[in-house]
Amino acid sequence: MATLTMPERQGGPGEGRGRIISIVQQKGGSGKTTVSANLAVAWSKQFSVAILDVDPQGSLGEWYEAREERLGENGTGLSFRTASGWGARREGQRLARDHDIVLIDTPPKSDLDAKPAVMAADLVIVPVQPSPVDLWATAQTLEMVISEGGVAMLVVNRVPPRASLTEEMVAVMQSFDSFTAATRLGNRTAFAASMGNGSSVFETQPTGKAAQEAAALAREIADSWLNRPNANTSQARRFAEMTFEGAVH
Ligand SMILES: Nc1ncnc2c1ncn2[C@@H]1O[C@H](COP(=O)(O)OP(=O)(O)O)[C@@H](O)[C@H]1O
Ligand SMILES: [Mg+2]
Repeated sequence: MATLTMPERQGGPGEGRGRIISIVQQKGGSGKTTVSANLAVAWSKQFSVAILDVDPQGSLGEWYEAREERLGENGTGLSFRTASGWGARREGQRLARDHDIVLIDTPPKSDLDAKPAVMAADLVIVPVQPSPVDLWATAQTLEMVISEGGVAMLVVNRVPPRASLTEEMVAVMQSFDSFTAATRLGNRTAFAASMGNGSSVFETQPTGKAAQEAAALAREIADSWLNRPNANTSQARRFAEMTFEGAVH
């Protein structure tokens, strides 16, 4: 299995440049927006988190608006911006100056739309549903990420209970030249249901399986950041202290 090595940070230790994490997958409906929203909320308890919607469909923006309506302008725990085309790279880098984590949600289909987000990213998260059609799209997505010098982490999403196909598909994923997260997200209605009113699974079903999985994924990604030798020390400490109890409302 490939190991995950994150690229060198542009800012040195203590310089405070945040991490940019882009969620990319050419296949629509793979869970990019759902994963973005839940990771953002998971991290927002310990970190300053900005979310950047680069998808013209604006699903993450709609989620954020619903969140703002429910919690108030200052209650979302997140900063939100939109951008398009090359603006995504510039806006991501700008947000990284005053946030610990910038999450960029990208559109499906064309390379061109996601490329600026890939170029700006320290880490590219690729959600994959365990089906052959999704794997074809994943191979193309990874080709693009790797050709841009990016580092990708595959996340198996919407895993059905007891499907032998999943293990077959994961075996194929592990043969790709990228890291596959140990944490998998199940096919759970909690993920779908929580998005409607701008929530995360931490808010709607804090003790449920979906919340456990999303917390474990946030933690796994955080650990891969922590392992970096020149991680900003105060950020590293907060990652070390991260329990996700605080993520439960
Ligand atoms: N783990 C999951 N379990 C159940 N439903 C999911 C899960 N992840 C995503 N979904 C649902 O799948 C659909 C597509 O997800 P979405 O995040 O919008 O994908 P994308 O942004 O890649 O197009 C949505 O209806 C969403 O609620
Ligand atoms: Mg989306």
